[in-house]
Amino acid sequence: MFFPQFRARRIRGNEVFRRMVRETSLSVNDLVYPMFSAFGSGIKKEVSSMPGIYQQSIEFIVAEAKEVHALGIPAVLLFGIPETKDAVGSDAYSDTGIIQETIRAIKREVPGLAVITDVCLCEYTDHGHCGLIIDGDVDNDSTLDLLAKEALSHVKAGADMVAPSDMMDGRVAAIREELDDNGYDAVPIMSYAVKYASGYYGPFREAAESTPQFGDRRSYQMDPANRLEALREAAADIEEGADIIMVKPGLPYLDILRDLRNEHNLPLAVYNVSGEYSMIKAAAANGWIDEQRVVLETMLAFKRAGADIIITYHAKDVARWLA
Ligand code: PBG
Ligand code: ZN
Repeated sequence: MFFPQFRARRIRGNEVFRRMVRETSLSVNDLVYPMFSAFGSGIKKEVSSMPGIYQQSIEFIVAEAKEVHALGIPAVLLFGIPETKDAVGSDAYSDTGIIQETIRAIKREVPGLAVITDVCLCEYTDHGHCGLIIDGDVDNDSTLDLLAKEALSHVKAGADMVAPSDMMDGRVAAIREELDDNGYDAVPIMSYAVKYASGYYGPFREAAESTPQFGDRRSYQMDPANRLEALREAAADIEEGADIIMVKPGLPYLDILRDLRNEHNLPLAVYNVSGEYSMIKAAAANGWIDEQRVVLETMLAFKRAGADIIITYHAKDVARWLA
């Protein structure tokens, strides 16, 4: 059918029609809010490149968790900034580590809020890499035990879900086995299945104080040029027992999100990462874009591309705008 029989504008002419034919919707249920828990007390320090996002000690984290819960956001994703870092990231799997204490505090004060934890070593190692360093590179297999230990200690502290972000091969299987062996077979794993070596993580590394002290993460995170590799990564993680798979970053990788949606039937998450947030915030602060409009359009783009879950620093604003 072509013009003049077909007139696309007929069903676009008023808001009621637009509502009736809208294909994609966004809900507060889709959102996950990331937070940075810092060791100490009385700390609430804004991340300079991420306006509105803070490194906070536990009492402030709990206060914000209450606010997040009251807004109807189902879950938070926690990152820890430990008191001390070392070569093997000991705080990551210490039962009294920063993240373990934070999980306990949130679950005590806001039990209805789901707590998801980022499982990785880079926030806890003095070299800033996501695993153990052997011969100048991150060693895959020896890192797996530590990740499994870390995930177990998060779950023991009360985490509702764990999200490995390290990109070691075999880590989903290692974590699944460790959780199952300890009676936590009901705790899901949201795998950062497709995680690219991205410049968009820049502001996060300031927030989490996790910048690699030498080299970069290209030997374990994915090459932005690759698409088929994303399908292999996702298939491997699903095979190993992932319950939810994630694509990260978000906006530059919408094609990958769509590929995974077409290929797999698991719930699909997207991480709208720090650099994506910073760009919108900076442009909005300059009056160059309409922040609310651009953020909501971005969220809808993730849903349209196939995401079920959106991890985003904009979550509180989005929840308010949708209310
Ligand atoms: C840790 C981790 C990173 C992010 C989430 N988990 C950083 C990295 O891999 O360098 C990035 C999140 C963001 O940029 O918002 N591995
Ligand atoms: Zn890491």
